[in-house]
Amino acid sequence: MDKPFRRRDLLGIRDLSAAEIVGILNTAETFAEISGREVKKVPALRGKTIINLFFENSTRTRTSFELAAKRLSADAVNISVASSSVTKGETLLDTALNLDAMAPDCIVVRHSSAGVPHQLAKVSRAAIVNAGDGANEHPTQALLDAMTIREHKKQIKGLEVAIVGDILHSRVARSNIHLLTKLGAKVRVAGPGTLVPRPFDSLIDSGNNGSASLDFDVRDRKLTVCPNVEDAITGADVVMILRIQTERQDAAFFPSLREYSIHYGLTNERLELAKKDAIVLHPGPMNRGIEIASDVADSSRSLILDQVKYGVAVRMAVLYLSTGGTTSDE
Ligand code: CP
Repeated sequence: MDKPFRRRDLLGIRDLSAAEIVGILNTAETFAEISGREVKKVPALRGKTIINLFFENSTRTRTSFELAAKRLSADAVNISVASSSVTKGETLLDTALNLDAMAPDCIVVRHSSAGVPHQLAKVSRAAIVNAGDGANEHPTQALLDAMTIREHKKQIKGLEVAIVGDILHSRVARSNIHLLTKLGAKVRVAGPGTLVPRPFDSLIDSGNNGSASLDFDVRDRKLTVCPNVEDAITGADVVMILRIQTERQDAAFFPSLREYSIHYGLTNERLELAKKDAIVLHPGPMNRGIEIASDVADSSRSLILDQVKYGVAVRMAVLYLSTGGTTSDE
């Protein structure tokens, strides 16, 4: 039997068992109502110090980690690359060691290079939480997506989830594929061939013979690489649209944004292919009119702002558990 979440660091969904993921989600649900109170504060992390160390831009993640810390009564400090001594030539490791010397309980780190949180975890006494590392993982995004799905679909097991867009550069896709398949959903990915590598399905232990070929007929596949967006969306319970990540693209992966939007953008017409009660997710920031039409983004099927709302609860749970709290299952 898997144990509930007992880790100090949260580096990736890849490392977690299904029971640990459920433990975090259940804990987040217990914290969710705090944000609806007149006084949005509980003393759970009084006396704890959280450092948000962000080397990449962020609106949602950094703000919600800060709000999460404050709503749990922790002291929260924000450091961005522009204000850090990295601009004076200090190495990332030295920055981390200096911050660690000030005895924080948790350092939340975002960096454009994959593996940075893992490196910091090796030297830091504080718990390290990955807030996005390059194209590797964005675990709290996948957790808040899962919380949003659970709130609307009750359970993740058995759902068909389409993830559409720039899969190649997406840490959100990687974390979601790990999480959703661990919790029993089936995931289909689609996008331009240059952005949806065929070997992507080897991410998941799908029980096949290890070949990376397209294989649409095998019913028990947990992850399927679809040849087009329409195939991915047809019959889906959840349609997750990813942002075109120009900051991580070092080549021309498609002819133009206009062509991308024509062939891969989520329009109402394409959404009609999904189940009638299908929901639409997007991690943000979104490029309206490119990967998602504005009328879809603003429709009642779109849960984009719910994702942001649940992000605070998920980050409260992660900070609480990483600094010694117990899951609601214990
Ligand atoms: N979804 C997400 O990570 O958004 P930010 O880049 O604004 O944090």
